[in-house]
Amino acid sequence: MDLSTRYLGLTLRTPIVASSSPLTGSLDSLRRLEDAGVAAVVLPSLFEEQLTHDSLALHDALESGAGTFAEATEYLPDLERYDTGPDAYLELVYQAKQALRIPVIASLNGTTLGGWVEHARLIEKAGADALELNLYQVAADPAHDAAALEAREIELVETVRAGIEIPLAVKLSPFYTAFAHFARRIAAAGAQALVLFNRFYQPDLDLETLDVVPHLVLSDSEDARLSLRWIGILRRRLSASLAATSGVHGASDVLKLLLAGADATMMASALLARGPDIVPGIEEAVVRWLLERDYESVEQMKGSVSQAAIADPDAFERANYRKTLRSWSSRWR
Ligand SMILES: Cc1cc2nc3c(=O)[nH]c(=O)nc-3n(C[C@H](O)[C@H](O)[C@H](O)COP(=O)(O)O)c2cc1C
Repeated sequence: MDLSTRYLGLTLRTPIVASSSPLTGSLDSLRRLEDAGVAAVVLPSLFEEQLTHDSLALHDALESGAGTFAEATEYLPDLERYDTGPDAYLELVYQAKQALRIPVIASLNGTTLGGWVEHARLIEKAGADALELNLYQVAADPAHDAAALEAREIELVETVRAGIEIPLAVKLSPFYTAFAHFARRIAAAGAQALVLFNRFYQPDLDLETLDVVPHLVLSDSEDARLSLRWIGILRRRLSASLAATSGVHGASDVLKLLLAGADATMMASALLARGPDIVPGIEEAVVRWLLERDYESVEQMKGSVSQAAIADPDAFERANYRKTLRSWSSRWR
């Protein structure tokens, strides 16, 4: 069975990719993921906040030394040993490329234009096969309208695209009013792939301390439905590659997302909860399903149940809503 898939200009052995998470942040676990059979890895993100913080800290250190004392250089930080987050990140990219045969996709996470964007070029130099840009943003300021926010994100994608040669994927949240239109603009701005969707971790309140605290709940397969819908809708409307992230836990999730039109299916929660050893079983079950239905390859079945390929395209839109509500009310008659 030919499980290979084209994603982001890369040929992957299978569609199963390890999404950005702590599991892709060390060489040991990266090797375990490769041995288990994942076809590519996305490294944890380098965050805009890390970069702006570090460059400000560096700037402050340089400024506070220079001009205060005659022998200012004595007070400068030892730049050779200045262990900024970015340096450690570039080292991880470099080491991962040395250690692995599968493609290594680095990840940059931020939303505003700024000097930190330069790091895309450094990541490319460190050897990454591709870059995923994560536009995680909560649009909380009532003074900022959707058009301005989207225009800024488009500009950011264009700027990163212009700075690098390697393929660029953009990871998005679903919270845009006209998602299909925005997805098309992101692709036109130079993204060769869209990664759908970012999971938003909602804050919680601690009733003892009255603090607002982060609250991370791992996904389950139900969370894949939003990606399933949008990948199904976008498949034939966009030429960009599409990757599914959120809720990929087993072979049935992988198969459904491929049928809807995904080129790659990414896993984080499932790997964190159950470890890389689940990958061979998922791959075997995918092969079994394909063989039982006389498919010869993943490429052959990809997108065969996308919105454009099915008899009732409305099933991906309002009809789905009406049918779902009716199916529930009929139980009470
Ligand atoms: C602990 C943890 C850390 C994560 N770190 C990142 C990150 O650094 N960058 C990123 O783009 N996504 C990050 N993610 C999001 C995952 O890559 C993935 O998109 C999300 O968890 C949904 O997929 P899942 O349902 O397979 O978990 C993280 C997820 C988890 C659970």
